[in-house]
Amino acid sequence: MTGGGLGIVEHGAVRIQDGRIAEVVDHPLTPEDGETEIECHGKVVLPGFIDPHTHLVFGGWRQNEFEMRLAGRTYREIAEAGGGILSTVIHTRLATEEELYNRSLERLHEMMFWGTTTVEAKSGYGLDTKTELRMLAVVRRLGELGFCRLVPTFLGAHSVPKRMPKADYIERLTAEMIPAVEEQGVARFCDVFCENFVFNAEESTRILEAGKRHGLVPTIHADEIESSGGAEVAARVGAASASHLLQPSDAGLAAMAQAGVVAVLLPGTCFFLREAHKPPVARMRELGITMALASDFNPGSCPMLAQPLTAQLGCIHYGLTIEEALRGITVNAARALQLDSEVGTLEPGKAADVVVTDVPDYRHIVYRLGHNPVWMTIYGGRVVHRQF
Ligand code: NIG
Ligand code: FE
Repeated sequence: MTGGGLGIVEHGAVRIQDGRIAEVVDHPLTPEDGETEIECHGKVVLPGFIDPHTHLVFGGWRQNEFEMRLAGRTYREIAEAGGGILSTVIHTRLATEEELYNRSLERLHEMMFWGTTTVEAKSGYGLDTKTELRMLAVVRRLGELGFCRLVPTFLGAHSVPKRMPKADYIERLTAEMIPAVEEQGVARFCDVFCENFVFNAEESTRILEAGKRHGLVPTIHADEIESSGGAEVAARVGAASASHLLQPSDAGLAAMAQAGVVAVLLPGTCFFLREAHKPPVARMRELGITMALASDFNPGSCPMLAQPLTAQLGCIHYGLTIEEALRGITVNAARALQLDSEVGTLEPGKAADVVVTDVPDYRHIVYRLGHNPVWMTIYGGRVVHRQF
């Protein structure tokens, strides 16, 4: 998929050599010596799906909060009463690295089953140096397994730990935790939950600037629960991406467009929390903002990790076109992670991350609500999942 559209090639073929795409042609290829042929007649072949915003590693689930929300409580009320992120922090701190690793591995398998070959994974349920580093160690080990690309993000600024003044925690983040993350080389991005009731715009800016000084690329949870100036912060610090964006200001959006910040939309979260606001997709389009789609997989606001379903909700719930949704989980998601020279399209030289879908027409990937279209997932030229 290249250029403005999807770059569809009918009756095409892809040659893979040494884990990379060697050629993409519009006719059948004859296998050379030592090559294996995968017959994809009647199927649709795409770049492996990319999930650019997940909270993959955590201890415990929060089905009790789901039930509370169904009874009328809001995400914010539950969080302010000590549930939400802070309850997952308790379970994550209690979990050993092996426990976190084994649970995350199961989730990663489920992602491969749904065609995902690149996953961004955040820390943020430790809120202390030891546990945050443990979470990032799990992400590194999962990446070393070699069946999925993991992109680690430090999200120490996910919440303020209990019984600690916010100013003290920001000091700890900037003076101790971020330097420790840099020293261990365990994260590429630094994220912050920017909301007036968590880290406000000014505090978020300070944390992201500290991350930059330590080699971490900024990204941000912005303007989800209320308009908090998050889009402006994203532009100001030169963030690679800003996520959620249910209520950004227009000035903030314009600044994002100017600064080339990718909007990462999370329709699964909006749908699961039954949030009243939706991102101003039409305005983003008008401003030429690149829109990516992520699952936001986490135990509280979106326990859903299927990128085809994210794409479906992107269309049905947010009003994206099929083309925008498919670009959102491939090439635009690669841009959000600054990996577009490596993954996101089927082009010679890129990593051979490929998903083969068993559908008669590419539109079925988005149209068949709740259906898993994935027949085979290939990562770096190796088959890592196959439907029988
Ligand atoms: O992106 N908003 C902050 N972080 C997550 C929620 C995490 C949680 O509830 O555990 C999100 O929705
Ligand atoms: Fe999130």
